[in-house]
Amino acid sequence: MSLIHIQNLNKHFKVLNRREGIGGAFRDLFSGSYRTVKAVDDISFDIEAGEIVGYIGPNGAGKSTTIKMMTGILKPSGGTLQVNGLMPYNNRIKQAQIMGVVFGQRTQLWWDLPVIESFKILREIYKVDQKMFDRHMGMFDELVGLKTLYSQQVRTLSLGQRMLCDIAASFLHNPQVVFLDEPTIGLDISVKAKIRSLIKTLNAERNTTIILTTHDLGDVEALCQRIIIIDKGKILYDGDIKRVTALFGAYRTLKLQIDNYADSTLQSLQEKLTEHFGADNGCTIAQTEEFWTDVTFDQARTPLSDVLGQVMANFRVSDVRIVEISMESVVQQVYDGALR
Ligand SMILES: Nc1ncnc2c1ncn2[C@@H]1O[C@H](COP(=O)(O)OP(=O)(O)O)[C@@H](O)[C@H]1O
Ligand SMILES: [Mg+2]
Repeated sequence: MSLIHIQNLNKHFKVLNRREGIGGAFRDLFSGSYRTVKAVDDISFDIEAGEIVGYIGPNGAGKSTTIKMMTGILKPSGGTLQVNGLMPYNNRIKQAQIMGVVFGQRTQLWWDLPVIESFKILREIYKVDQKMFDRHMGMFDELVGLKTLYSQQVRTLSLGQRMLCDIAASFLHNPQVVFLDEPTIGLDISVKAKIRSLIKTLNAERNTTIILTTHDLGDVEALCQRIIIIDKGKILYDGDIKRVTALFGAYRTLKLQIDNYADSTLQSLQEKLTEHFGADNGCTIAQTEEFWTDVTFDQARTPLSDVLGQVMANFRVSDVRIVEISMESVVQQVYDGALR
């Protein structure tokens, strides 16, 4: 039996239909007009002990909702969910002993206490014996220099330091599975690298199963063999990451601020690229935020310098940024049949 077994799992939320303004809000209260959000819509997968699985998808895809069900915080609306043979929601206390969880937006540490006191409280809660506690604390210190933070109040830690502490804390009681929900959000490259190596080492040394959600494709490339892509509550892909990186590894997005931007700009940009590179050039153009035009292109087919050259030759550009391919465009390309 797999460590995590999920079959036809659903989570539906009933949400009030909102209307504008105070009067609208008042009427909403009594209208009883609801709609159903299918946050998780009939998903199935199995995860084996020792795997690191990247659970990825755009905002609102249903990642956190799935994790909340797996950790017993939310009750499923339907379907089968077992972790280590038990249904998490009905066995919360028992399950807490075999799980660790980190939500990137929150901390499980005590805000006003020094770091080491938080770890001592967790030791009591999880009944970790002194020997194991000392061994684990020694290991965390070796990996990320935890000792230097022991006496610091949690509220005074930087976001990156706090996240390192939170991740270490989630492994303290040697759980079978650790859920990490957006652990690298808002962190700079050097802290991300530390977090990746912490996760990798802990998985390798203890065979801890890890489910990781992230917006950062670099995280999944560094850590996961297997990824599950979810969007709108449904699973789009479940398999080896290599198939996905082979397709997307060469993609980059050129973000442009074009002067005198008009409605026709996107189309004329498309025409210029087609003129120069042919119809099958693999470039996609979109306006994702105000004043910025995104050209996503495949470096293997259309090198950056050529794409940029074409843009500069035909448009007045006031600012340029180059970014790795976004989660949103990966998902778009999966819909477009990229993995078929
Ligand atoms: N408590 C809730 N009540 C109503 N809708 C919710 C609730 N939690 C999440 N949702 C909705 O469910 C969908 C999935 O949310 P979530 O699982 O948080 O996505 P993700 O973590 O992938 O960004 C979203 O449309 C979100 O608005
Ligand atoms: Mg989330």
